[in-house]
Amino acid sequence: MTQPQVEVLMDAPALVQRAKELVMAEAQQAIAQRDRFTIALAGGNTPKPLYEQLSKQTLPWSKVHIFWGDERYVPMDHADSNAGMAQKAWLDHVSLPAENIHPMPTNAAKPADAAQAYETHLNNFFGSKSEPGQFPQLDVVLLGIGPDGHTASLFPHTAALQVCEHSITVGDKDGQPRITFTVPILNRARCVIFLVTGENKRTALDHIFAEQADATQWPARLVRPQDGQLIWLLDQSAGQELKL
Ligand code: 6PG
Repeated sequence: MTQPQVEVLMDAPALVQRAKELVMAEAQQAIAQRDRFTIALAGGNTPKPLYEQLSKQTLPWSKVHIFWGDERYVPMDHADSNAGMAQKAWLDHVSLPAENIHPMPTNAAKPADAAQAYETHLNNFFGSKSEPGQFPQLDVVLLGIGPDGHTASLFPHTAALQVCEHSITVGDKDGQPRITFTVPILNRARCVIFLVTGENKRTALDHIFAEQADATQWPARLVRPQDGQLIWLLDQSAGQELKL
């Protein structure tokens, strides 16, 4: 388990610039080594300016595949859709083949069926078997955290935190269903990059980085890639008081 690499950047624009550099470097390396780049996107507000910056970059887009680490259970044209946000900020502006965009399904009558369908899709794409312990390996997973220490849609004290036999499950935000990566697939990634800005994330960061803390209360503590890189990008307002 590698030690986290923590970088505190002056402000949100500087964090976005650094995140762009890291994602581009990972993409170029993955394409050079495996002729494709797979990335799972985070939702929420923080990553939107990063996606806008990535829309101005040049990559062999036919070799780039976009997934999501979590999704609200709404149609893509809904204001809350993580896929809709990324589509508008980035994917609509680059020549990515439609088949390279892999949004989480949110139209099944039961969210559990949508989660199963996405897991099957990932297993088929990555060639990972649906056997216990076999999880798809993405090149990069982008994540944020909430003030409550959640990440993706792994919320405190929810059943999703305990799922270890599946790569995709149903998250629960105050009774609202989400589709989310589970801890094992997150920890299988080659590179996990957390993007965290704002003073309202300080308390969560203190508990996430504390020697001892309840990971079911602060779920982002559970993200510790076995072999991959773990990078935390914090802006000053989130990270300046953090004791490492
Ligand atoms: C989501 C995200 C979620 C997000 C955090 C931080 O679907 O909302 O995936 O995990 O990363 O809530 O959100 P902000 O970036 O808006 O603070």
